[in-house]
Amino acid sequence: MAKVKTTFFCQNCGSQYAKWQGQCTSCKAWNTIAEEVIQKPEKSDWKTPTKATSKRVSKPLLINDIDTSQEARLNMQDDEFNRVLGGGMVHGSLTLLGGEPGIGKSTLLLQIALNLKYKTLYVSGEESQKQIKMRAERIQPNSNNCYILTETKTQNIFKQIEALEPDIVVIDSIQTLHSDYIESSAGSISQIKECTTELIKFAKETATPVLLIGHITKDGHIAGPKILEHMVDTVLQFEGDRNHVFRILRANKNRFGSTNELGIYEMQGSGLREVSNPSEILISEKDEELSGNAVAATLEGLRPLMIEVQALVSTAVYGTPQRSATGFNAKRLNMLLAVLEKRAGFRLGAKDVFLNITGGITVDDPAIDLAVVAAILSSNEDVALPSDYCFAAEVGLSGEIRPVQRVEQRILEAEKLGFSTIFVSKYNKIALKNTGIKTQLISKIEDVVSFLV
Ligand code: TYD
Ligand code: MG
Repeated sequence: MAKVKTTFFCQNCGSQYAKWQGQCTSCKAWNTIAEEVIQKPEKSDWKTPTKATSKRVSKPLLINDIDTSQEARLNMQDDEFNRVLGGGMVHGSLTLLGGEPGIGKSTLLLQIALNLKYKTLYVSGEESQKQIKMRAERIQPNSNNCYILTETKTQNIFKQIEALEPDIVVIDSIQTLHSDYIESSAGSISQIKECTTELIKFAKETATPVLLIGHITKDGHIAGPKILEHMVDTVLQFEGDRNHVFRILRANKNRFGSTNELGIYEMQGSGLREVSNPSEILISEKDEELSGNAVAATLEGLRPLMIEVQALVSTAVYGTPQRSATGFNAKRLNMLLAVLEKRAGFRLGAKDVFLNITGGITVDDPAIDLAVVAAILSSNEDVALPSDYCFAAEVGLSGEIRPVQRVEQRILEAEKLGFSTIFVSKYNKIALKNTGIKTQLISKIEDVVSFLV
């Protein structure tokens, strides 16, 4: 009997070892190396290769002679998804969608599959056909182009693909697939690698785009070897707070477009709804002006987004005042409080400060600083800011108001949403003329205090 061949793989980074060891030498993680049975395939083609394909040799071509008309993209019938992909799906591309469990990956791709005008095969290794049908009924009752297959063996999937000849294939999820050529269990490093390789071969040879769902580990990386992310063309991340309704789709890697674009969805009882104007929902409707609220003109990727910041400043009950921030870096909050204390003379040391970015969104755009400062000042003085004021500037350590990037885009977004005044740094170069919004230029934090309080 032939000896069973085994190798050791780091489950974290995918490095291969001849024997077991406690620590992975390449990613330095402990206890991640596990033995996996592998058997080299005689031929691991997505279907038995014909002589013609195995003999095909690619020739160098002049870059000007390469025809790109074939690269026309497939319209996914979903503006947000198309935008994140860079204008639609490219033929023969592999796209990996990662995200936490329950965030809505299956829902998003099933919804897209149901809306497509192309013949689509949705392969699920996680749910039965009936369960998928039940989900589909929640989303949209009828579609004539979407086929559902519940299968986990790649060889069987390719057999069905050959018979059906779909235009797009969706796989939910890569961790449930297994290939006959490898003996280790589904979800192991070697299986994930092998199945992805087979899928890539299939995609490139037939020019069929493939969408993969990938699980993520508890520290937020896509489960499986890092090499998986290198192998595919596009890595999308679906994120958001599960207790909130908004979901953000962003590209971490995109061979065919920018990674700055971002798509926003709202989870509803009937599936995901595209949010084409996010600012409108993020800013709450109020009948009266309340203290402690300020609106920031931020950028998420390349999209301007108006975000509401809420602060609550109250007298500290205990000796050490509490500082708590949701959706904003707590260290940055402490820094802004220190600047306020030093430059604007506010005795915030004896106060509790709570800060919240509404909508469950996390912002790391420094342009939100000024809105945070304004919200804190407003709550501290218990004076409401006019609800048609907004802010876009960074605050420096010496209390200077610093310029931010793409300020014009922010100003235009604020104008579109009906704000009357936007506070920006004096040092921002603004070429805009004749806007319907007043641009208030400031240079020091003291200016803000005198304007607002
Ligand atoms: P799912 O797509 O199964 O998540 P994933 O594949 O990323 O693990 O999403 C499941 C969640 O979405 C579940 O908590 C219920 C919610 N949901 C809705 O709110 N509305 C819907 O129409 C659907 C289908 C799901
Ligand atoms: Mg799922």
